[in-house]
Amino acid sequence: MSKGRILVTGGTGYIGSHTAVELQNAGYEVIIIDNLSNSNIEVLDGIEKITGIRPAFKEMDLCDKAALEDLFVQYPGILGVINFAAYKAVGESVKMPLKYYHNNLVSVVNLMELMPKYNVKGFVFSSSCTVYGQPDKEYLPVTESAPRKKAMSPYGNTKAICEDIIHDTITSGATFKSIILRYFNPIGAHPTAIIGELPNGVPQNLLPFVTQTAAGIREQLSVYGNDYNTPDGSCIRDYINVVDLAKAHVIAVDRMIQDKCLEPVEIFNLGTGRGLSVLEILNTFEKVTGVKVNYKIVGRREGDIEQVWADPVKANTVLGWTATESVEDTLASAWKWQQKLMADAKK
Ligand code: UD1
Repeated sequence: MSKGRILVTGGTGYIGSHTAVELQNAGYEVIIIDNLSNSNIEVLDGIEKITGIRPAFKEMDLCDKAALEDLFVQYPGILGVINFAAYKAVGESVKMPLKYYHNNLVSVVNLMELMPKYNVKGFVFSSSCTVYGQPDKEYLPVTESAPRKKAMSPYGNTKAICEDIIHDTITSGATFKSIILRYFNPIGAHPTAIIGELPNGVPQNLLPFVTQTAAGIREQLSVYGNDYNTPDGSCIRDYINVVDLAKAHVIAVDRMIQDKCLEPVEIFNLGTGRGLSVLEILNTFEKVTGVKVNYKIVGRREGDIEQVWADPVKANTVLGWTATESVEDTLASAWKWQQKLMADAKK
């Protein structure tokens, strides 16, 4: 017997696919919708290979409200929605802000409008530590009560606005609960290397660029700055294993469905509590894989935050969730995944 139906939007994407696996492992029936704008239909094969179950799938755009309503009709009794579907490239969002505002906001509004009609009990939203900007020193590590700062990019702004949309909708008396998860920097891949991150084109994020450079696909990694006010001068982030992250979503869904939320909107940081610099990540990657990464220190990247890492105590105590994977194993999983991609490309 399934524990119930969960709709996973953006479920063929990086975090969505890992979460679909964990939901199925926990006994939920997963329905994935995705417009495949930044992911691949073959991810469904991967989810099936890992769990033995092929999730239901519909290719559709969340901005298409009529199509979304058809989906709720086709799959009655959806208990919860996890919304991963969003554009996420910071640089692109600066050049094409309306693409980001349209897609990321309209999709959330459509879900908010339809969920009460179909008796959905809970909504999990993928937010980001980007809402904290550069926290003042007294707020590091950053807790959920640290003030939000003005977003540095339209992408970041969509996360803050979506948080507000959810908050306002629920305060106005909406019938569902919501859990907002603020991710720090998700990295790594499933330990089987059957699913992982599939960046389109030149990666903008650190880890896929590291693994592609190690693999010889990219000539050189640029380390953006070594003159920050940090111990080694490079930026500090809280790198969190993607499977650990995925498991937090299952706990959030359980919590909403079982009516355990203490407030109608709850916010949790998902991080390890440990800040690592770009150079520490590179050194650890080289140590665990035995592969050298060709890198060069270059100037700072515009808009980068100097240092931010999570205080995850609220998630640890209230959700009973803790990040357990070591950064060593996580980096090894990212490398295993990159090697699998290369082996596939040769076939
Ligand atoms: C950013 C956003 C985050 C968003 C994510 C999505 C902020 C603070 N964070 O994360 O909200 O979810 O993008 O893409 O806006 N680096 C290099 N060389 C590279 C790439 C990155 O040195 O080629 C460094 C960066 O300077 C940074 C660290 O690696 O210090 C991590 O960068 P990245 O993976 O892009 O993530 P964020 O910028 O932290």
